[in-house]
Amino acid sequence: AKTVVYNWDITWVNASPDGFSRPVIGINGQWPCPTIEGNIGDRVTIHTRNMLGNETTSLHFHGLFQSGSNSMDGPAGVTQCPIPPGAKFTYDYTLDQPGTYWYHSHNKGQYIDGLRGPLIVHDKDAPYAEQVDEEVTLTLSDWYHDEAPGLIHYFQSVDNENNHNGAEPIPKGALMQDTQNPKISVKPNKKYLIRIINMSAFAGQFISIDGHQMTIVEVDGVYTVPQKTDQIYITAAQRYSVLISTKSDASQNFAIRAAMDEEMFDTIPADLNLNVYGFLVYDSKKPLPTPTPLTTFAAFDDFALVPQDRQRLLSKVDHQILMDFDFINDNGINRARINGVSYIPQKVPALYTALTTGSDATNPKVYGTNGNAFVVKPGEVVEIVLNNHDGGGHPWHLHGHNFQVIARSGENAGTYPGNAAAPAIPMRRDVVMVRKGGYVVIRYRADNPGVWLFHCHIEWHVEAGLSATIVESPMELQKSLRIPSDHMKICKDQGIPTAGNAVG
Ligand code: C2O
Repeated sequence: AKTVVYNWDITWVNASPDGFSRPVIGINGQWPCPTIEGNIGDRVTIHTRNMLGNETTSLHFHGLFQSGSNSMDGPAGVTQCPIPPGAKFTYDYTLDQPGTYWYHSHNKGQYIDGLRGPLIVHDKDAPYAEQVDEEVTLTLSDWYHDEAPGLIHYFQSVDNENNHNGAEPIPKGALMQDTQNPKISVKPNKKYLIRIINMSAFAGQFISIDGHQMTIVEVDGVYTVPQKTDQIYITAAQRYSVLISTKSDASQNFAIRAAMDEEMFDTIPADLNLNVYGFLVYDSKKPLPTPTPLTTFAAFDDFALVPQDRQRLLSKVDHQILMDFDFINDNGINRARINGVSYIPQKVPALYTALTTGSDATNPKVYGTNGNAFVVKPGEVVEIVLNNHDGGGHPWHLHGHNFQVIARSGENAGTYPGNAAAPAIPMRRDVVMVRKGGYVVIRYRADNPGVWLFHCHIEWHVEAGLSATIVESPMELQKSLRIPSDHMKICKDQGIPTAGNAVG
């Protein structure tokens, strides 16, 4: 195994991925941001410098469990202090899991402004490895023209005079490969692995490739029993790897068609194009097809996927956590709540609280009244029941683990009635869509001591407080984890305490 070293200055740069020029957050003066890439077992060291001048930052490596390296997970106020302008901070961890991931800022809705990119962990022993000739990473995202801080302020200000009831900002359009109409060159008679990542702040997307059936082989870093489909639905933060076989000749080029899920938007502005296209180019001298918008939406239901390792249902639940979530107008501020409490990022990062409060660390109360903390014990099988009391769908993500999806209702099914007939071999992933007015039940084993955020991955909702803190095995953490000095230094430089109870 090798060490992959990146030296990254996080900087503002101008970009116009859809023809509109705006400031975006890039790396070393470049945008799109680079891909983090290595082989399983490699170590990654990222020396960052925050050169933004006007904003704090942090990086999260979405889907990596960070076993033994909880302090490298990235969410500001949870496992670290935000990195202030001018400061340095090093992320350092090993790539223990194969598959398709991504990284993004985990601070103040900042990835909406562009600070996100793919993270790929190659595995020569992947179940599909023998068949694959080439691989391609294909990113999707929604895109805004205004900068995130202003949009967040707008979203959270309920203002009846201006007839604003707290609807999420609607993107200006969608991107593929951080542009529009990207061309992907392919050769005939080959097998391609296409790693699809939705880096959206908000929109789920449908995607299909004209003339090419896809075979799903990996979902959120979990190898699956191969599953053929013509279309995929991918929520914000999810990943799908698919195999395609290219045609036997290069006589024609084909469109890749994606469309944002319009059901997520409260209104559809007349000038909003929900669609974004790309092309599989067999022969660049041949014309490109003129794509038409996707009209039938018939994606394969991810609930029915089967993990390749056939890990069986965790059948005995030791610890059930119930989360009822909704939105309220809190005196003109649009807030999300879990069991009546809206999350507020903590000043003392919850991890530092877990490490410094001795045996009190097992008491959820030390994590503050707005930390939505739940403490779980080593080895427990944890079941989380998510009841969605809101009229929109929410893609929930757990840090530090993936989870079995043991029940998922359709729309408006009400709260979980209990005793679901769970699949014998449930799907595992790290982001799951909870449909409007419905529920999802997930399970996982608490085998990774750490302080792990659990939240809806719609960035507007993170900012509105739709997050919980799962404090897993804090006493084990106290014995094993040491915080690097550069992590402590940025707290001290900002006057943020690194010990004691959390303060919201
Ligand atoms: Cu993509 Cu809290 O993460």
